[in-house]
Amino acid sequence: MVDLFPLARPILHALQPETAHNLTLVVLKLGLGPRMTSTDPPPLAIEVFGKSFANPIGIAAGFDKNAEVIRPLQRLGLGFVEIGSVTPRPQKGNPKPRMLRWREEEALINRIGFSGVGLDRVEARLKRPRPHGIVGANLGKNKDTTEPEADYARSVRRIARLVDYLVVNVSSPNTPGLRDLQAASALTEIVTAVQAARSEVGATTPILLKIAPDLSDEDLADVVRVALDKQLDGLIVSNTTISRPDNLPTSLAGEAGGLSGPPLMPKSTDMLRAVARDVAGRIPLVGVGGVASGADAYAKIQAGASLVQLYTALAYRGPRLVAEIKRDLAALLDRDGFSSVSEAVGSGV
Ligand code: FNR
Repeated sequence: MVDLFPLARPILHALQPETAHNLTLVVLKLGLGPRMTSTDPPPLAIEVFGKSFANPIGIAAGFDKNAEVIRPLQRLGLGFVEIGSVTPRPQKGNPKPRMLRWREEEALINRIGFSGVGLDRVEARLKRPRPHGIVGANLGKNKDTTEPEADYARSVRRIARLVDYLVVNVSSPNTPGLRDLQAASALTEIVTAVQAARSEVGATTPILLKIAPDLSDEDLADVVRVALDKQLDGLIVSNTTISRPDNLPTSLAGEAGGLSGPPLMPKSTDMLRAVARDVAGRIPLVGVGGVASGADAYAKIQAGASLVQLYTALAYRGPRLVAEIKRDLAALLDRDGFSSVSEAVGSGV
């Protein structure tokens, strides 16, 4: 695989992170991204919510908000691509700058707040024929909506049949009030509405819920109860955190937003493990937050994840990381005597 990232990295990292990201999207759209040609080792294949994944490593929501670069991302060797968050109507998001680097930790703080082209254009892009590969759509709500459940339901009606799974995102920290939708009564209302919308269009697309790592133990217990009662198809643990570690540099101390990357790994993995204990295999889990190596991906799997996602580490390490993670994960499974990812799921809970 030809990888120009080592050459491009100093240029990208001299730019504002959001500018660097937009440039990366242009490069990918032009077909100039790397292409993985090797096939995945069979032990990495896994079946989750009735879908076959060639490997369990996916790109998390936020990278391809507008479904512009699905194919180029698949070519990096990712096992699945999650687009979004998509909002029903286009919106600009928060004022810039709204994405900041914490270089020493290879972390990011972002307060983008769902910027995107909206459902119409995303739907049109998802309707274009594309080669086989698992694609999920992560759904958000518009900032000024008064009926959140109607926003989610509308998106479900429009794109349920165009993707392999849907994610109800009630956990981004940058849309006022969004995370309150994780409370049991609001959540029940939303899940009921999206499941009804899915039936209306005759779809059976799995619906997952993405949660915040900052939930209290009681709130987390409520979320898990609703997920099980309503027979959700999976939980994604987790979104970015509004908490800050002690070693945060003073230059970033006053910056609002969600923290992602390695400092999020312990918190999100602890929460994943707690959720895995509660759900006891009844619904599959997706582990996300701070994954930057094969060992990190393996830690998420041992903590209960059937699938793993990442975003921030790719911005620092480049596309080659995907192949490295898969190689190291396969070696770790082999070292510990697991013949497949699914055998290792939850082995450390
Ligand atoms: C995100 N994330 C995110 N999540 C989501 O559900 N909808 C979104 O629109 C976004 N947008 C977004 C933008 C940016 C710039 C970042 C860095 C992150 C959260 C992301 O999907 C993931 O949950 C966290 O970033 C944690 O994973 P990493 O980045 O530590 O691997």
